[in-house]
Amino acid sequence: MEESVRRSLGRSFGPTAADYERSRPDYPAAAADWLLAGLDDSPRRRAGWPATVVELAAGTGKFTRSLVAAGHDVIAVEPAQPMLDRLVRAVPEALAVRGVAERIPLAGSSTDAVLVAQAFHWFDTEPSLAEIARVLRPGGMFGLVWNYRDESVPWVRQLSRLLGTDRSQTRHAEELIEKLEWSRLFTPPKRTTFRMWQRLDRQGLVRLVASRSYVSTMSPADREELLFNVGQLFDVTARQPDGLLLPYTTICYRAGVRKW
Ligand SMILES: C[S@@+](CC[C@H](N)C(=O)[O-])C[C@H]1O[C@@H](n2cnc3c(N)ncnc32)[C@H](O)[C@@H]1O
Repeated sequence: MEESVRRSLGRSFGPTAADYERSRPDYPAAAADWLLAGLDDSPRRRAGWPATVVELAAGTGKFTRSLVAAGHDVIAVEPAQPMLDRLVRAVPEALAVRGVAERIPLAGSSTDAVLVAQAFHWFDTEPSLAEIARVLRPGGMFGLVWNYRDESVPWVRQLSRLLGTDRSQTRHAEELIEKLEWSRLFTPPKRTTFRMWQRLDRQGLVRLVASRSYVSTMSPADREELLFNVGQLFDVTARQPDGLLLPYTTICYRAGVRKW
């Protein structure tokens, strides 16, 4: 995907905020636990201080909830105002700030962790990595999480064929992690995965597709056709009234900042 296309798609989440909040999956609690365990060795944590955790591209706050629940001081940064408005309502405990990853509106060495859920592929990689390293304190950590649909399941493969697979829409996680390693700003990342399922009724599956940035920017006719086909896929696949369980693999990475 061309950089300019990626950038404009990344900025088109605002109008989908309602569908996004209602239909996108949450994250397994174990994912936040594993990522935040990366903080255990930070000097401030060892001294018993509360950690400051910054979440970039926090969206409507789906991952922010786990960070607040873990008892940290959370700053949620997000560029799309409609997403941020929902976050403020859903997670009032977090400090919500408008901003982008390439220019984080925070002072240098001011935070213990920077986390990004389902969004690092939208950033300009090199400038955002430099910004993340800038705002982290020595001993601080950077964590990433993505939910990927499990395309080993036949109906999920069919859904991906309708959508274009996750891999064709986003640059793949491993490619981005290589860039992180090449930056030499962080220690070699650790990786883990979790399994998760999202229960969806017909409307839920259609909304999930409608919440994707590239679907919201399609022509009305193409969008209608795609959503019709997704509804049909539900009808031939689901065993009513249970709906469908959409399987995901949740992939997490964490790395320490190289800073003394
Ligand atoms: C797929 S959503 C993920 C939202 C949230 N983290 C979650 O897990 O539900 C991607 C988010 O990235 C935000 N975004 C896109 N480009 C960005 C950038 N350059 N800097 C910060 N956020 C960005 C979008 O506004 C959107 O809220």
